Amino acid sequence: MGLTVLLVFGLILNAAMLCNGGVTSLFVRKVEPTKDMPLDSDVFRVPPGYNAPQQVHITQGDHDGKGVIVSWVTPSEPGSNTVLYWTANDKHKYHAEGHVRKYKFYNYTSGFIHHCTLRNLKIDTQYYYEVGIKHTMRQFSFRTPPKVGPDVPYTFGLIGDLGQSFDSNRTLAHYESNPNGQTVLYVGDLSYADNYPFHDNVRWDTWGRFTERSAAYQPWIWTAGNHEIDFVPEIGEKVPFKPYRNRYHTPYRASGSTSSLWYSIKRASAYIIVLSSYSAYGKYTPQYRWLEAELPKVDRKETPWLIVLMHSPWYNSYNYHYMEGETMRVMYEPWFVQYKVDVVFAGHVHAYERSERISNIAYNVVNGQCTPISDQSAPVYITIGDGGNLEGLATNMTEPQPKYSAYREASFGHAIFEIKNRTHAYYTWHRNQDGEAVAADSTWFYNRFWYPLEEPTSAMK
Ligand SMILES: *[C@@H]1O[C@H](CO)[C@@H](O)[C@H](O)[C@H]1NC(C)=O
Ligand SMILES: *[C@@H]1O[C@H](CO)[C@@H](O)[C@H](O)[C@H]1NC(C)=O
Ligand SMILES: *[C@@H]1O[C@H](CO)[C@@H](O)[C@H](O)[C@H]1NC(C)=O
Ligand SMILES: *[C@@H]1O[C@H](CO)[C@@H](O)[C@H](O)[C@H]1NC(C)=O
Ligand SMILES: [Fe+2]
Repeated sequence: MGLTVLLVFGLILNAAMLCNGGVTSLFVRKVEPTKDMPLDSDVFRVPPGYNAPQQVHITQGDHDGKGVIVSWVTPSEPGSNTVLYWTANDKHKYHAEGHVRKYKFYNYTSGFIHHCTLRNLKIDTQYYYEVGIKHTMRQFSFRTPPKVGPDVPYTFGLIGDLGQSFDSNRTLAHYESNPNGQTVLYVGDLSYADNYPFHDNVRWDTWGRFTERSAAYQPWIWTAGNHEIDFVPEIGEKVPFKPYRNRYHTPYRASGSTSSLWYSIKRASAYIIVLSSYSAYGKYTPQYRWLEAELPKVDRKETPWLIVLMHSPWYNSYNYHYMEGETMRVMYEPWFVQYKVDVVFAGHVHAYERSERISNIAYNVVNGQCTPISDQSAPVYITIGDGGNLEGLATNMTEPQPKYSAYREASFGHAIFEIKNRTHAYYTWHRNQDGEAVAADSTWFYNRFWYPLEEPTSAMK
């Protein structure tokens, strides 16, 4: 019975696809306000014990996955900067020394923020680590990725614009219920503290405590969004990205970048490039020069999958943030086609959308060729800003659905990008209303370097 319904629904979707090249989902989410969890919520609880480390999170700490940056906050005094770590088979405890800092934002003063990089870890190994030495120790664990190589299977989770609402909590729990997600590719807009008066940075702390249950155990790869800018000259806060850069470090130096806001990493069979939508990207700027030098370095024989993360989407058919990514698209899209990027993930729009493989690089101001065309060298563009923050869903779409838009739906959720080998990756999008096993949208990705055929779901002619 259920299967029949699914099949019929599938046929309707397929029919819709063949007619206009795109699907606007028939799924209608109940419209209800998206509210932030109150400060006394269970997920924001301060861990017990004097000066106990809180807001523990990890990210990749070098270029190829043998390093991990461990970050945490101590509330009462700096305490120790040391991370103790060991593997299951080898009980010898190693230690690494980090740094501590604090910052002020208007009348808020942060706790003691620690960052410590563990280096030269064994590949594909379960590690345990401890922070809070001398006061209250807390223990966590992570698994290092396999050695970088072309056929290494690896599964990434995709989350964006999470915030800290009751829906955010559902999205995170939904992602956690998938046992396969090994690393989160986070496409920007973290805490939404800036929606509070004076950008109340207490909401940065609550966000850190909320996400610890995942981010202390698997790396979250950070991208900066507009809610990380925190530029408020009216109250004397004139340095953009201050809270974000103090709290969330990235291994940018390892990829020759001069800013933590744009960088690259290799992980298993993927090469991941993170860009900043809110830093200068025009010709001659640091980000432009870095990306120009970076793309030729990607060796698809070593890392077949070329993935780009950014916050503001280049292709977006919602009436929210419409065309905000356009100027960056004009600058960089020809490179993405030339270097055959497999997929671009963005957030910003609080909804979900997947494009066909398209490009729009022929236009030169006078020739009138300004329509996106089907292009098998181009990436698929996915907007996954549907983490569930307090601003609510973007529901208003441009009509009719553009031909390049393969699937769009205004629901909260997350996605999974599961690399099988050098030619195939399976991608699924999971709306929060369904169980983890249900994929509301799914498609095979064929690698653009090793297997540049048209994917079976492609419908745009
Ligand atoms: C910061 O200033 C605002 C506005 O005056 C006030 O409501 C808030 O309580 C202050 N916070 C702290 C930590 O002093
Ligand atoms: C958040 O989700 C977790 C996991 O499902 C649950 O245990 C917790 O009670 C939730 N908290 C809130 C405030 O919704
Ligand atoms: C949707 O967006 C369009 C364009 O901004 C606007 O004209 C229209 O009123 C909006 N519709 C709703 C229901 O908000
Ligand atoms: C790659 O993975 C796909 C999907 O699982 C499979 O069909 C294909 O045979 C694999 N290729 C190789 C060379 O193993
Ligand atoms: Fe945003």
